[in-house]
Amino acid sequence: MERLTKVADHARSRLDRLWSRGSDFLGTRVAILGGAMSWVSERHLVSAISNAGGFGVIACGAMGPALLEAEIAATQARTEKPFGVNLITMHPQLDELIQVCICAGVTHIVLAGGVPPGPAVRAVKESGAKLICFAPALVLARRLVKSGADAIVIEGSEAGGHIGPVSLTVLAQEILPYLRDVPVFVAGGLGRGEAILSYLEMGASGAQLGTRFAASTDSIAHPNFKRAFMRANARDAVPSVQLDPRFPVIPVRGLVNEGTKRFLELQAETVRRFAAGEVSREEAQLEIEHFWAGALRRAVIDGDVENGSVMAGQSVGMVTRAQSVQEIVDELVQQAAQAIAGRD
Ligand SMILES: Cc1cc2nc3c(=O)[nH]c(=O)nc-3n(C[C@H](O)[C@H](O)[C@H](O)COP(=O)(O)O)c2cc1C
Repeated sequence: MERLTKVADHARSRLDRLWSRGSDFLGTRVAILGGAMSWVSERHLVSAISNAGGFGVIACGAMGPALLEAEIAATQARTEKPFGVNLITMHPQLDELIQVCICAGVTHIVLAGGVPPGPAVRAVKESGAKLICFAPALVLARRLVKSGADAIVIEGSEAGGHIGPVSLTVLAQEILPYLRDVPVFVAGGLGRGEAILSYLEMGASGAQLGTRFAASTDSIAHPNFKRAFMRANARDAVPSVQLDPRFPVIPVRGLVNEGTKRFLELQAETVRRFAAGEVSREEAQLEIEHFWAGALRRAVIDGDVENGSVMAGQSVGMVTRAQSVQEIVDELVQQAAQAIAGRD
């Protein structure tokens, strides 16, 4: 019994050492971030993740400055632990949103959705807040670090939501051995502690998960949304399909449903109308882009999982039952520690 406790203690302290750079950077007990998810990552889920020892991140999405200010204050009322705010770089009020974060004393700001503009980077840096950016390739990661990023998230195409083309398995090999200047967090398709451990051993400082937290009992997502996650297998979470190279579709990973089928039909019909001269190229592109407007909200908040956008990572196959955020975090830590202990 005593030996078992010693092995467990040893495994846990080995894990703590492996992700200490990440947990020091985040100011947390464990280096696990709850990736920002529009409509999902609000005060309840974010504070639950931070209170569980991880690092919650508010998804600002399309919120304006006043709403973001209220969301930050409400989150601060629920946790004294650190959390971050994720801002989309193309938001028309990006500068104001950064000021809201700074004035509220947010310690970590994530700039997502493209290379952040210079003034935004400078504003974050001058405030003393830590800047986290996404890098889809090593060259870009190096450029972001040079311009001021204090940490990088590499997100593989297994992830839910907007995705790049490369899997985490490959991104990790391309980036982790070469980017040592700042902590690097891995994301996409992660559902178990053993997988997180393997990336820590490759040089990652921590991991970011979205899908598993979205389905947690602390998430405000509609019961239909969570049920869809529990029923789905990895193969059901697929990227959006682009029918015609002339009309680009932003790749988004989510569960196949009526909406994804109708999206294909809409593209086919729009391309036909363009070919027949009934609509201009710009009108056709706009029609395609508008198809998903408001669709994530429809699925997450209204529970319309047939017509809405049920964004989910391939990790959705590992969502099998309703669990609290605390249970998920503890389970991930336990799995990683057990894998370490199993080697002794
Ligand atoms: C429903 C949903 C919405 C998301 N929305 C955003 C977002 O608004 N901004 C963002 O940077 N990432 C977003 N993501 C990506 C997550 O932050 C996270 O990186 C991703 O979920 C990790 O992969 P996993 O789902 O396999 O754990 C979203 C993911 C999901 C599942």
